[in-house]
This record gives sequence, C-alpha cells and structure tokens, in this order.
Amino acid sequence: MAAKPVVKRLVVLVSGSGTNLQALLDEIAAGGTEAYGAAVVAVGADRDGIEGLARAERAGLPTFVRRVKDYDTRDEWDAALAEAVDAYEPDLVVSAGFMKIVGKEFLARFGGRFVNTHPALLPSFPGAHGVRDALAYGAKVTGCTVHFVDDGVDTGPIIAQGVVEVRDEDDESALHERIKEVERRLLVEVVGRLARNGHRIEGRKVVIQ
Ligand code: GRF
Repeated sequence: MAAKPVVKRLVVLVSGSGTNLQALLDEIAAGGTEAYGAAVVAVGADRDGIEGLARAERAGLPTFVRRVKDYDTRDEWDAALAEAVDAYEPDLVVSAGFMKIVGKEFLARFGGRFVNTHPALLPSFPGAHGVRDALAYGAKVTGCTVHFVDDGVDTGPIIAQGVVEVRDEDDESALHERIKEVERRLLVEVVGRLARNGHRIEGRKVVIQ
C-alpha cells in the first residue's frame, strides 16, 4: 500500500484584507490538502475586525488575536504570539501581510520556517511602504519577494521573486494591486513547494529539495 502523503500544518498570520490567505485557502480547497501538501490549521492576527480574520472564520478555521497594546512590553507580546502559534504545532508559519516585526522568542521557535511576503524586490525597498517607496524612487520595475524571516526588517534569505513593471500612470494603490496579483500566485506556489519538498537554508541560499 502506498504511504499516505504527508500534509504539513500551516499557521497564517494576517493584518489586513487577507487576499494572500484567501489564495492559499482557494488553492487548497480546489486540489485538496494532499495534492497541495499542506493545510491551514489556524489564522492569527495582531488586530481585530479585519477581513483576513473574517475570511478564516468563513473557512471554518480557528483564529487568534494578539495585540501589542494588550502587553506591558513588546517581548511579552512576542512570547504570547509565539505561544499562540505553537499551540497549533505548525510545520511552517506564513506571514501574509502581517504588519509586525516579530522578536527573539518567535524566531527562536520558528526561525527557518517562518515565511514572509513583501511587495517589493528585496533588498530594495524594505519596510512597511515598499510599494510607495519604489514609486517615489522612480523604479521602472518592482515586484514581490517571498523570503524567510530573520532578525532584520525584510532581510532574510530569499526564496522567490516576481517582477512587475511600473507604469507612468501608476499610483500606489494601482501598482500594489498589480503586485498583489503576482504575489498571491508566487506565495501559493512557494508554500506548496516548501511543504511538499522540504528545504534547507545555506547561508543566504534557500534550497528546495
Ligand atoms: C501584501 O502586498 C503584502 O506583501 C503586504 O501587504 C499586502 C497584504 O495583502 N505586506 P493581503 O492582506 O494579503 O490582501
């Protein structure tokens, strides 16, 4: 009898509209968890009342919220977030538009398996305004980067990138929407490959087996 395919456990973190989360959920729903190699087991956020959480609830997934302002220190928040994520025993944690920098405790538990997506071609334009900064700089191409998170801001080893041309008539929101179309496909593809094939990180290089 053939061995049952392994289905990896994903915890996804969101802060906003959650369209990247939705793309993952749609892909998994369409082909099944075994074909994709992973299932989303929970969705976490740093704030209430966002569409990302509503999407998770509509999909019947457990959710949790850990707000920085509910803790005395940033480190306490970080430890609480790490604990909440760990409760779902994830193989991979995906930051899909999660707008917080995690700290030491989180990285101690999930370093090397915490994936982020950023709406610019790193190492250009890191930080919270990657789209705005690329536009203001006058870049002619930009895009998105899926990478592992390290202790810097958008500095971890790059897994994959997608390129998007900047148009003369672009404003931040039009450009971001076109980036997000590429970003959603890239994230779904990368997370599936990581789940199915496994990976190792050699310095700055990510090798997917
Ligand atoms: C993405 O472009 C992500 O890179 C950025 O915020 C956006 C999140 O979009 N940090 P969504 O919440 O998945 O729709």
